[in-house]
Amino acid sequence: MRQILHNVRRRKSVAAVLESLHNEETSGGNQLVRTLRLKDLLAFGIAAIIGAGIFSTIGNASAAGGPAVSLLFIFTALACGFSALCYAQFASAIPVAGSAYTYAYTSFGELVAWIIGWDLLMEYAIGNIAVAISWSDYFTAMLDGVGLPVPAYLTMDYLSASRGYTEVTALLAGGQTVADIPAAAFKAYEAWLYAPALGGIKLIADVPALGITALITYLVYVGVKESKRAANLLVVLKLVVILLVIAVGAFYVQPANWNPFAPNGISGVLKGVSAVFFAYIGFDAISTTAEECRNPKLDLPLAMMLTLVVCTVLYVLLALVLTGMVPYHELAVGDPLAFVFARVNLPAMAGIIAISAVIAMASVLLVFQYGQPRIWMSMSRDGLLPKAFSRIHPKHKTPSFATIVTGFVVAVPALFMNLTEVTDLTSIGTLFAFVLVCGGILVQDFKQETPAAGKGFRVPYINGKYVLPFLLIILLALLQAFHPEGIAGFMNILGGSDGVTTWEEWKHKLPLAGFIIVTMAMTVLTYRHRLSLIPVLGLLTNLYLMTELGITNWSRFLIWLLLGMVVYCCYGYWNSRLAKPNEKESQS
Ligand code: ALA
Repeated sequence: MRQILHNVRRRKSVAAVLESLHNEETSGGNQLVRTLRLKDLLAFGIAAIIGAGIFSTIGNASAAGGPAVSLLFIFTALACGFSALCYAQFASAIPVAGSAYTYAYTSFGELVAWIIGWDLLMEYAIGNIAVAISWSDYFTAMLDGVGLPVPAYLTMDYLSASRGYTEVTALLAGGQTVADIPAAAFKAYEAWLYAPALGGIKLIADVPALGITALITYLVYVGVKESKRAANLLVVLKLVVILLVIAVGAFYVQPANWNPFAPNGISGVLKGVSAVFFAYIGFDAISTTAEECRNPKLDLPLAMMLTLVVCTVLYVLLALVLTGMVPYHELAVGDPLAFVFARVNLPAMAGIIAISAVIAMASVLLVFQYGQPRIWMSMSRDGLLPKAFSRIHPKHKTPSFATIVTGFVVAVPALFMNLTEVTDLTSIGTLFAFVLVCGGILVQDFKQETPAAGKGFRVPYINGKYVLPFLLIILLALLQAFHPEGIAGFMNILGGSDGVTTWEEWKHKLPLAGFIIVTMAMTVLTYRHRLSLIPVLGLLTNLYLMTELGITNWSRFLIWLLLGMVVYCCYGYWNSRLAKPNEKESQS
């Protein structure tokens, strides 16, 4: 037992990671080509971040939270910013392709590294399923607009169609007319109604989502240069259109729409956490290019922070413009940016935005289809996945096998899965990765393994000893002032004095209860060990956002992690390179 515990905690030292990278480069082994400069990384980051989140899911978030959703964008940006600084320190000290996975391997050990690598599948592959599904929605709407309608049963998932059918049948039975029924629900109803059936099973699938995934996978497969050029071009187009929306939309803002600013209170705003966070996912993907950067130590941190700043400014302005142009409750649509312009009688603008959304989401797909194989490549080099995953194509110099597997892993579920569910899973998985990266910096700081100043980027050290308790006191004061029932009402969450008695009711309180316990523990640790404030705040803010995603998503996430544990026990544990005697010197 002791031996097993020792094995799953085996860690790679930072020096060993860098040395093996150097060896592979000098031996002409599995090396990639160093072609990316700062501007390419910025384009890569923006290509990854601005996509389905801002073109689609912001609609429902604004409809629930009102104009105050702009504040949620700022809070989420802060949480992402803390993690970006931590990512930047790791990426600058360990410039290899595996991103958070490699960082975890050096700070927490093999088991946690495996967990995070497995978890990143949720961010990259499952995230891309969500983007492919949204892409398909905009694409088919665009085809509809130019008179080329695609049958509804070829453009959506089985669950949406079946739910839509049940909902609309009930509405029609209740006496409503077709004109009263929301267009999206009616489309789902039609999909179910007209779908061909095989042996009693309706044949309903999102074919365009599969098509775009196949195309993007091909681009990534044929090489970094082609992908880089495509990404740069898509990003310029995307930024121009977003700026156009803000500039033109500003003239149609009616300040009266901003009043009330938070019509559904804090809880309304917090309903948008998953959607808003999803809109920020992507800046961390920059770190997966570390082996293809010309100057990773400087350019990676700079690119991550700059993309985050640019996107935050754009998102806050967009949220204010959207909620200023129309009453917030009208924004519960899948294409809010196009919708607001159609609503103020500018159909040409609506058309331009629909086309740009199709382009924007294709560029997000490109970045994540590019990143996922590189994480697998790192895991395979470490022996946690079969060797085929680190095979580099002799001509294209890309991880060929891993790229093709990624294509299948995204394209096939994109045919059948439901958008909201995959968005939520992506957000919870990514937040968890961020929590671990922030924790990793704390562990490395604590073990004094952080590279010396001057050797790369470091998270600025602010002693959290007194600042963290001070910030918490301010937070509690704000809670007392602004929470409808004050601190006592908030703390009810733990006591159950609000009439909650059954496990079914209790379980919904678990995530927040866990967060409160972790916060107390971190405060004590920070006080005792003078921990660095930024990673501590990163850990706590991202964990808080996780708690807002609800127990159902937590349960699914935990099942996913459990599945990963089974895979590790069956393969990685036995095949890890650190388990081989001649690799022992790599361990710390
Ligand atoms: N941030 C990316 C998007 O919104 C994942 O599409």
